[in-house]
Amino acid sequence: MNLHPQDFLLFVDVLRRESGLVLAPGQEYLLKSRLAPVADRYGVDDLAGVAREIRMGSPQVLRDVVEAMSTHETSFFRDMLPFRQLQEKVLPALMRARDDKTLRIWSAGCASGQEAYSVAMLLHDMGIAHEGWKYDILATDISHQVLEKAKTASYTAFEAQRGVPVTTLLRHFNQADDMWAVKPHIRDAVKFRQLNLLEGAGHLGQFDLILCRNVLIYFDAGTRLSVLSDLRASLKRDGVLMLGAAETPPAEAAGLRLLDGVMGGYVRPNAE
Ligand SMILES: C[S@@+](CC[C@H](N)C(=O)[O-])C[C@H]1O[C@@H](n2cnc3c(N)ncnc32)[C@H](O)[C@@H]1O
Repeated sequence: MNLHPQDFLLFVDVLRRESGLVLAPGQEYLLKSRLAPVADRYGVDDLAGVAREIRMGSPQVLRDVVEAMSTHETSFFRDMLPFRQLQEKVLPALMRARDDKTLRIWSAGCASGQEAYSVAMLLHDMGIAHEGWKYDILATDISHQVLEKAKTASYTAFEAQRGVPVTTLLRHFNQADDMWAVKPHIRDAVKFRQLNLLEGAGHLGQFDLILCRNVLIYFDAGTRLSVLSDLRASLKRDGVLMLGAAETPPAEAAGLRLLDGVMGGYVRPNAE
């Protein structure tokens, strides 16, 4: 499939503007492989046809291009250690600092929902509801497609069993044929909503804990800093932001302090 240099630049430009995704020269192969199904869907022969639709201002093509180019890789309890640290350090510290016995949690860039449901399972198993705690978990993503899957709360055996201990699996999933459905007591604890992180999140209010893991890695430095500043503003004082294990964004520049002993953990300092 051919890709003209002007069309490559057009895709680079719209993807950066619409979703923050940065494509470097040399990643033409990624465009070609991921956008071939979009070209097929619109009955055009090659990526020049997709580019033409975008130039003509088709919002649906633009949305499909952004969807096709996003990476939705995720799993339950991804990387495991951060979830253990949430349970042992982050959540107990937050609970000591909150008199109102309420926690607001946001999974930003939640993909197909595994991260948010993992947090719901963790909170359930900590038994904090029995101690009078209330929590709500909001999960957002730019992609309508993954959100539809997330809302079904139904996963293949591979997706469900990857990273989930057997006891957790049996406690929180029902098996139906070859799919595994998250049980209602976990499913109902999470609300899903479409949100583009580039468009700000002030209207969501503030949170005690935000997970934005493996999302910023696709952005350029300027976009990362600006999204981080927004996330910081969405945290209550003492609130914690969890980033992906391998991410080292300019969090300090965004007014966040590294949280000792918590992988990918940052805190919004209290004294501001
Ligand atoms: C690799 S997944 C990470 C999922 C999960 N947080 C995890 O760590 O397993 C990245 C997700 O970020 C979403 N995303 C990318 N750009 C976004 C944006 N501008 N606003 C909101 N979500 C975005 C993608 O659609 C994708 O589902």
